[in-house]
Formats: sequence, C-alpha cells, structure tokens
Amino acid sequence: MTLIQADSVTKSYRVGEVSVPAIRGVSFRVEAGSLAAFIGPSGSGKTTLLNMVGCLDRPDGGTLQVLDTDLSELSRLARAEFRGDHLGFIFQDFNLLPVLTAYENVEYPLVVVKPVPPAERRERVMSVLESVGIAEHAGKYPDQLSGGQKQRIAVARALVTRPRLVLADEPTANLDSATARSIIELMREMRDRYETTFVFSTHDTRIVDAVEVIFELADGAIAQTRRQGAAA
Ligand SMILES: Nc1ncnc2c1ncn2[C@@H]1O[C@H](COP(=O)(O)OP(=O)(O)OP(=O)(O)O)[C@@H](O)[C@H]1O
Ligand SMILES: [Mg+2]
Repeated sequence: MTLIQADSVTKSYRVGEVSVPAIRGVSFRVEAGSLAAFIGPSGSGKTTLLNMVGCLDRPDGGTLQVLDTDLSELSRLARAEFRGDHLGFIFQDFNLLPVLTAYENVEYPLVVVKPVPPAERRERVMSVLESVGIAEHAGKYPDQLSGGQKQRIAVARALVTRPRLVLADEPTANLDSATARSIIELMREMRDRYETTFVFSTHDTRIVDAVEVIFELADGAIAQTRRQGAAA
C-alpha cells in the first residue's frame, strides 16, 4: 500500500518581493511500513518537504497525497485534524515540555490531541514507555534525563497516538554516536512492532544505512532514489 504519493510538488518562499523556489517539481512514493530518508546538502529542501508531508505547510503546485488524502484540498482545520489523527513528529532538539514529567510528556497528546479515557490513557502511556525502555524514568523531568533518554521519550510521545506515519527531522543530530545508533535501532523496532512508517530528513550516515529507501535532494529536486536491503 502506498502511504505517501507526491507528484510534481513545488514550493516557494516569499522573501520580501522575491519568490525563492525551495522545491522544484518533486515526485516520489513511500510504501506503508517502510523507513525512508531524505538526504542532501543544507538548503536542498529536506525540511520544506517534510513540513508539507506533515501538514505543517502546503505545496504551491503538484499533488501530495498521504493515506489517499489530497493534502492541498484540506482546510487549515482539517489539516490540523489530519495531523492529530494520523501523524507523529520527532525533532532534532526533542521538543519536550520542560514542566512536564516524562510520563506527562507522553500522555499529553492523549489529553490534548487525540483524547482517550483516563484508564486507557494510563495503560497506553505505560505500554509505550516500556516499549522504548524508559518506564523507570517516567517520573523524571526532561532536565533530569540524558539526550538519548529524552529522544526515547520523544519517540514514545510520537507513537502513543498510534500514528500511521512518523516524520523525524534530523532526529539524531544532537546525539552522540552510540546513542544515535540505539535511537535508530529503537525506531526500526517500533516500525516492526506497530507497522508505523518513518520518514526522516538526515545527514546521519547511520540512518541512511538503516532505511530502505533514500531520496537524495539537490537544489529542491530529487537527484537520485536508492532502494536497499529489504526493499531493494
Ligand atoms: N521560512 C523560510 N523563508 C524563506 N526561505 C526559506 C524558509 N525556509 C527555508 N527556506 C529556503 O528554502 C530552501 C530549502 O530549505 P530547507 O530548510 O528545506 O533545507 P534543508 O534541506 O532542510 O536544510 P538543512 O539541512 O540545513 O536543514 C533553502 O534555500 C532555504 O533558504
Ligand atoms: Mg532542515
């Protein structure tokens, strides 16, 4: 099943009077349950593309379908709903709320974004905290945790709503090598367990080695697509 289908997607940013093209006609497909990465030099358009797939921004042209929904036809409100229902996000700098414990950070989307009753909420938060190996730190605040522990919490928070697709913009950029490796391994395990599709933007060769499809961007266009491992 195709999860993401992009056809001739374009996107420009307005800077004062000038329109700066960031994505110049990009077409690609990501299958459900796969791990995919956008790579390419700084400024090549990775974040711009991820933001459009993540309904945080919309294309100027072309069509972009996620889960058979044409994103450009959604209103602002419908896009927010679509995000809450189907998508999870992992960020380079973790983006945990500092005043909430690890447990509360993971619980947050089930209170605010996709509400579930308290008993089920507790069950789901603990189960995902256990999956990411961090249950014993549930009561700690982000500043009492290491970078790797924080990113595990962020992975748990992204998965607790059971999204079909998780978008991760440079998720290992602020982690040391061994920790980065363990976070990549964790995301692979989570894909196997929950059949979640992961799409990364990255400079990290370890992520590139771990994914099944690589889209290499250059100057807002896909210069090369590589499939490897299970998907080759
Ligand atoms: N908010 C913005 N306003 C104007 N131009 C922008 C904006 N965001 C990005 N751009 C431009 O769009 C192009 C693509 O940027 P983007 O952030 O998608 O690149 P990237 O591949 O994610 O880079 P990096 O590896 O540095 O994160 C660049 O030329 C950038 O200068
Ligand atoms: Mg970027």
